[in-house]
Parts: sequence; structure tokens; C-alpha cells
Amino acid sequence: MITEIKRKVGYLAAEQIKDGDVVGLGTGSTTHFFIEKLGKRIVDEELKLLGIPTSYQSFFLAKDARIQITTLEEHDVDIAVDGADEVDPKFNLIKGGGAAHTLEKIVDSSASKFVVIVDGSKMVDKLGNFPVPVEVIPQASRTVRDQLIKMGGSPTMRMAERKDGPVVTDNGNFIYDVKFSVDNPKLLEVELNALPGVVENGIFTDIVDEVLVGTEKGVETLKK
Ligand code: A5P
Repeated sequence: MITEIKRKVGYLAAEQIKDGDVVGLGTGSTTHFFIEKLGKRIVDEELKLLGIPTSYQSFFLAKDARIQITTLEEHDVDIAVDGADEVDPKFNLIKGGGAAHTLEKIVDSSASKFVVIVDGSKMVDKLGNFPVPVEVIPQASRTVRDQLIKMGGSPTMRMAERKDGPVVTDNGNFIYDVKFSVDNPKLLEVELNALPGVVENGIFTDIVDEVLVGTEKGVETLKK
């Protein structure tokens, strides 16, 4: 079952963490298990770790797991572990299904080592079946939407489930989920961020060192 697979991958990634590490704490249902296991190791092995959360979700999970929190102002990141919505054969990613990709990209890209943890359903030949999340300053909603359409995308503003109106990110912004044919991930990543009002998009290129892929058969480690 998918939850068990996510647990296995998250727990295995937590075994990579060494005493004294400063750890980037990703967001999502897979990193939930990573953070949980780190908490267990802190208790069982008396590890001294510092964590840098990538969202309010991972901040609160880290607090529960008794991981001491720090910031990028104070520490460099030794290793970041994060989930993904799609991973292609060159380790390009789509992230942001949980609207946390802006801080995730800041933390993950600053890490000495960046490990992605996914279940097998996230591995794709080509990015783009999952729409690309684009975080937008609210005042730029219309102008950015028009530009996204001009670029060939089909944007939909992400709406909240337990609140009327749009999803508001941890940074106070809106999200467009944009269907694109992602032929050149790097180019699209750069072009999206060049639109005035775009804060960050969910395409991640050139930063992944390792991908742990969980399936019914076990966990496979893919290295660059
Ligand atoms: C958060 O915004 C995302 O980037 C998540 O890291 C991504 O959606 C993976 O989440 P799951 O582990 O829940 O699939």
C-alpha cells in the first residue's frame, strides 16, 4: 500500500543523516515519515541535529519530532531530503503539489547533498503530466495568467478546500497550476521566473544528487 511504501522510503532516507548534520526538512506526505524517523533517531541514538523546515507543515512536524530548528541565516545545509510530484530520467523535478516549492527550492538548492524520496508512481519519462505550480503575487494574478497563456500554458488558480477562495501560500501568495508541454525543463523554469509577479515555479533542475524510489519490491537508490 502506498502509505507503507512512503514510510519505507522516508525511514531509509533518515538513516543517511549523521550526528551533527544540519538537515533541510522537505514537505509532503513522504517527508512526513522522514521527519518522524529523524525524531525517533534523536531519542534512541541521542543525535544532535538541526533542521531547516521548508514549510509550516515541516516546521510543526519538526517541533513534534523534537528536532531543533535553525535558519539559513545561521547555518548551511548539509543534506536536504524532500519529496516530488514528478521525477524525470535526468532528475528534473516538478514540485509544489503542496504549494511549498518556493521555500523548498531555496533550502534544497542550498544543500551540499539533495536527496529526493518518492514512490514509483512519481517516476516519469517526461515532465508535464502534473501541472507546473507557479507561485504568484496576488496583485499580478491577471497579468501573469495572460503571460502564461501566451507561453502556451493552461493555468488554473488553485482553490482552497476548507476555505472559500484561492489557496494562500505560506508566503501569502496565490498558486497557478499550469499544464505545459515541458520539452525543455531548464528553459521553462527560467522563463517562468522571468515573468513579473512570479515568485517561484515548481520545476527543479540540476540540483538533485540522489533519488530513493519506493515500490512494492523495496527501495531503489538512483545516483547521478
Ligand atoms: C510540496 O509543495 C511538494 O513539493 C511536495 O514535496 C510534493 O508534492 C511531494 O509530496 P508527497 O510526498 O506528499 O507526494
